[in-house]
Amino acid sequence: MDGGAPGATPGAGHGGSAAWGLLLPVREAPPRQRGRVLQTGLREAVRSGRLAPGARLPSSRELAADLGVSRGLVTEAYEQLTAEGYLTSSRGSGTWVGDTARDAPAGDRSAGERTAAPAVDFRPGSPDPALFPRAAWAAAHRRALAGLPHHALGYPDPRGLPELRSAVAALLTRRRGVAADPGRVVICSGVAQAMTLLALTLGGSGGGTVAVETPGSFEHAALFAAAGLRTVPVGLDTEGLLPGDLAASGARAAVLTPSHQFPSGIAYSAARRSALLAWARDADGLLVEDDYDGDFRYDRAPVGALQGLDPRRVAYTGSVSKSLAPGLRLGWLVAPDGLAGEIVERKRTMDLGHPVLDQALLADFIARGEYDRQLRRCGRAYRQRRDALLRALAEHIGGTEVTGIAAGLHVIASLPPRCGPQERLLARAARAGVAVRPLSDYLPPRPPSPPPGSDGGDGGDGGRVRLVLGYAHLTPNRIAHGVRLLAGAARHP
Ligand SMILES: Cc1ncc(COP(=O)(O)O)c(C=O)c1O
Repeated sequence: MDGGAPGATPGAGHGGSAAWGLLLPVREAPPRQRGRVLQTGLREAVRSGRLAPGARLPSSRELAADLGVSRGLVTEAYEQLTAEGYLTSSRGSGTWVGDTARDAPAGDRSAGERTAAPAVDFRPGSPDPALFPRAAWAAAHRRALAGLPHHALGYPDPRGLPELRSAVAALLTRRRGVAADPGRVVICSGVAQAMTLLALTLGGSGGGTVAVETPGSFEHAALFAAAGLRTVPVGLDTEGLLPGDLAASGARAAVLTPSHQFPSGIAYSAARRSALLAWARDADGLLVEDDYDGDFRYDRAPVGALQGLDPRRVAYTGSVSKSLAPGLRLGWLVAPDGLAGEIVERKRTMDLGHPVLDQALLADFIARGEYDRQLRRCGRAYRQRRDALLRALAEHIGGTEVTGIAAGLHVIASLPPRCGPQERLLARAARAGVAVRPLSDYLPPRPPSPPPGSDGGDGGDGGRVRLVLGYAHLTPNRIAHGVRLLAGAARHP
């Protein structure tokens, strides 16, 4: 449908438009995978905005006929996406794109007015907003405001306030092993803006192709593509991104989550880190490190950042989105020497510098030890929640294999084959009020190589459905309740 205009009715005549073009792989997919491919294509179309909020979908009969698949498959896809909040439907008047639209965080209920919110939402990505340290933040806000001289309220240094850059450099050096001097730290609006600044800088010096992990974050490819770069998916094994595939991809930069790969949960091995750095040196390439949840490690001290091994070849990015709250939009980029000047100029022309008061506040918060206190407090809570999830899975869905448990805010649960095929399990879980994301959501329909521990990415692993379960935003009781609901959905025919 042309641009997904609200109220338009896409159908047989619109098969060539961008949104419906995404669904064409459904036809080519093997019969058992068609349901998954259809759901992934629809989600992607909504997420990317190709299907705009309010757009009406064709009837299940029409879409089934267009795609050459059974009507039941389309009905099931519509039901599943309705339960997840992507679509909304009302009896007799059809199915519409909901206004949850692009990747609303799990905690955002604003779009829940027209669709029932799930009773328990295991979709990953959110910290617990209830752990936000409101009193300490308010006190830091008061002190920061009182302490800012008049002249500091002018346009700030585009790199960030000197006191925040010093505080962040010291924090990253101490906690993450980053080689950070304040002169190369740029304060920005989260990892997202850091990636955009890097993408614009790389694009300005000749463009080229950027490799993204597969499976990987939806955001990486979207951010680099939005800045005009070509992205190429590169697969992983159990040690990290495949260096041979990276070399063959023709990319000149690669975006990595080495401390806790998103979403598979693996930590890159030391050997793989060396191999990727060797690629960067040989190919004059750049590794972009997304340290999105590297502070949370439960079995031992966090693995140091890749950047510390070669700061000339790695751009390091991080933020307070997992440690404090994503809505603060506060993060940092530690730039390699050769790129720092241009990145700062990009930041200046993008927004004339980061909001001063937010920066002064965070500088105060870090300097007084509040940030470390927050990390300790969240780390304790999240470890308990992870343990509650592991216990509940062992008790209610015996035979589940759980990986990626040592760090971060989510795990991968491979359910035993008796839980049934993926499409059926997801539809039943949604009806039972549990929102879950399968690992296959993070793969393109045809992955370039199997993800870690996979038999080929058909959403199953020897008949096992693999789910990415986020737990940090749920209390132990909610987690146990959600796993019981999931077990019930898996049990009943
Ligand atoms: C792996 C990963 N990195 C980074 C981000 C964005 O982080 P920030 O809030 O710091 O921009 C996300 C958010 O979806 C993510 O999933």
